[in-house]
Amino acid sequence: MQQAKPTHQEPADGHDLQPPAGGRSAIDFDRYLRERAALVERALGECVPAPAGPAGRLFEAMRYSLLAGGKRLRPVLALAACEAVGGTLDAALSLACAIEMIHTYSLVHDDLPCMDDDDLRRGRPTNHKVFGEAIATLAGDGLLTDAFKVLAAAATSSCSARSAQALLETIAELADAAGSAGMVGGQVIDVLGEGQALELDQLEYLHSKKTGALFVAAVCGGARLGGASAAQLNSMREYAQALGLAFQVIDDLLDVESSTETMGKRTNKDEARGKVTYPSLLGVERSRQLARDLVARADTALKRFDHRADPLRMLAAFAVERKL
Ligand code: IPE
Ligand code: IPE
Ligand code: MG
Ligand code: MG
Ligand code: MG
Repeated sequence: MQQAKPTHQEPADGHDLQPPAGGRSAIDFDRYLRERAALVERALGECVPAPAGPAGRLFEAMRYSLLAGGKRLRPVLALAACEAVGGTLDAALSLACAIEMIHTYSLVHDDLPCMDDDDLRRGRPTNHKVFGEAIATLAGDGLLTDAFKVLAAAATSSCSARSAQALLETIAELADAAGSAGMVGGQVIDVLGEGQALELDQLEYLHSKKTGALFVAAVCGGARLGGASAAQLNSMREYAQALGLAFQVIDDLLDVESSTETMGKRTNKDEARGKVTYPSLLGVERSRQLARDLVARADTALKRFDHRADPLRMLAAFAVERKL
C-alpha cells in the first residue's frame, strides 16, 4: 500500500499563504482560514488510499468521514503555531494531517451507538449509519493508526538530527494526548459520568482530557516542529490549554443554543444523555463569559510573540465566537 506523504501545494487560486512579512499583519481572517483549510484538505486526500482492493470498503469509510469537511481547526492551529515561531508550513503539514485524522477517528467512535449514539456528523449520516458498526469502528482504528504512519513518514533522509528529535518528541506527545492519559481517558470519564453529578473541577478535568489534550498536541507539536524554544513551548502550552477548554465550553453551549441545521450534527443531545456540561452547571451567560475569559488567558500567553502569532490570536477568538 503506497501512501503519498502530504506535500505543500499552493492553492489553486494562487494566493500566497504566508502571512505578510514585516510590520503588524492585518490578515483577512476568513480568507486565511479558508485557504489554510483548503491546504489541509488537499494534503488529507493523500493520506488515505483510494477505495480499491480487498479492504476498499474500509478506505471508503475512512475517506467518507475524513473528507467530509469540518472546520479543520486543529490542523490549522498546528500550522499557525509552526509559523508563529518562524517555521515553514511544510514543517508542520504532516502533523496537521495526523491530528485531523485522529480527531476524525474520535468523532467516528464518539458517534457510535455504544457512545453518544448520533446519526448526523458534519452534515452527513454518521459513519456507522452508512457503513455499519464494524466498518465504522475499523475506520476509526485505521485513521488513528495511519495518522502515526503519516507523521513518522515526515522523517526523511535529509532530516537533520535536530528535526528528527523534534519529530520524535512530537510523536510521543501526540500519542500521550490521544491515548489513555489524554483524549481516550477523557472520553471514558465522559461516558462513565453520564447521569452522574459532576462538580465543576471534575468537568474541567474531563474537558481538558477529551478535547484540550489534542489542542495542546496540535499547538505544541506545530511550534516544536517550527523550532520553538523551551520557553516558547511553555507559552504555547498555556495558550492551547486555555483555548482547548474554551472550545469545549462553546461546544457545550452550541448544543443548547444552536440548531442541527447550522451545526451539521444533532443539538440538544447532552441533557438527553444525562451529560453534565458547562451550561448545565453555570448557565448560558456565565459559560459564555468563562469562554471569553479563557480566550483572554490564551491571548495573554502569547504576549511575547510578534505579529506572526496573530493568526493564533484570531483562531482563539474564532473558537469562541463561532456559530458551528
Ligand atoms: C467536535 O469538534 C468535537 C469536539 C471535541 C467538541 P469540532 O467542532 O472541531 O468538529 P469539526 O472537526 O469541525 O467537525
Ligand atoms: C467529543 O465531545 C469529544 C471527542 C473526543 C470526540 P462531544 O461528544 O461533546 O462532541 P460532539 O458534540 O458529539 O461533536
Ligand atoms: Mg461525546
Ligand atoms: Mg458526541
Ligand atoms: Mg458536544
